[in-house]
Amino acid sequence: MSLTNFPYEGKAAAAPTSRLTTKVSMPALQGMKREGKPITALTAYDYATSRLVDEAGIDMILVGDSLAMVVLGHDNTLAVTVDEMLHHTRAVRRAVRRALVVADMPFGSYHGTVAEGVANAVRFVKEAGAEAVKIEGPRVELVRALTDAEIPVVGHLGLTPQSVLRMGGYKVQGKTVETVLQLRADAEALEAAGAGAIVLEGIPRGVAAVITADLSIPTIGIGAGPDCDGQILVFHDILNLTFAPHAKFVRQYADAAALIREAVEHYREDVEHRAFPSDAESYHLAVAVQDIGEAMAMLEPRSAGRKA
Ligand code: KIV
Repeated sequence: MSLTNFPYEGKAAAAPTSRLTTKVSMPALQGMKREGKPITALTAYDYATSRLVDEAGIDMILVGDSLAMVVLGHDNTLAVTVDEMLHHTRAVRRAVRRALVVADMPFGSYHGTVAEGVANAVRFVKEAGAEAVKIEGPRVELVRALTDAEIPVVGHLGLTPQSVLRMGGYKVQGKTVETVLQLRADAEALEAAGAGAIVLEGIPRGVAAVITADLSIPTIGIGAGPDCDGQILVFHDILNLTFAPHAKFVRQYADAAALIREAVEHYREDVEHRAFPSDAESYHLAVAVQDIGEAMAMLEPRSAGRKA
């Protein structure tokens, strides 16, 4: 056996002192629930942003299939493929030192047989370095099979975006007694089957609170109120990079769209006005070479010696 998990190696200033400073694992997240420490989670899809998210001390990074919308520009999450998700998961994994990296299994990759679901999940672990996979819905048999295959699983209940066609849109779930009881039973069944954590999306606060109190594994909420064990949001949502009105549960922490637009416009203007690059931003010949007039002459444009 060899150890491949390295301790946190970010700059001291970037390592949050009050939080875990070693690699986050699924059992570590479960320990945080037991200790009453809120779990922080965010999506990320590429090297640079995952690195920043990790250095900011987020506990769990989800390579969400939301990348279909926020990165690839699709109308919903259904089109993204296993190969596309693998490509992004690899980039994230290269960047992350501390957070738990969870890969979202895309629509169609686990909706056939359990054996197909397990085979696709194995690809995320083997080929992309995912440390857990997330699957939507109460797929208890699949969660059991993945757990038997040593693959940590994050469940996802409530408003499951891959069910958009069946639901007829993105609608808050768990609003009737019957559906609340079903959600609670599904959450208990996922825990019993071996799920390590469950994302609760788009359900009333009170329902999420009851399920959270009921389970010994952590719940990670998105649009499910403050009583979950942790919270997750989409990276592009909190930075105003989605070009769409935000859902009620999104809090925008910065306006990266404005920052990027302003920086790019500034660059364009500088180029248009020949203000970029400056002499200081240019490479120069060594002084010794400059002193040799002959060498400089050799650098004259070839056209100078040619006959018209
Ligand atoms: O794909 C995604 O972004 C998700 C959410 C839970 C954030 O599944």
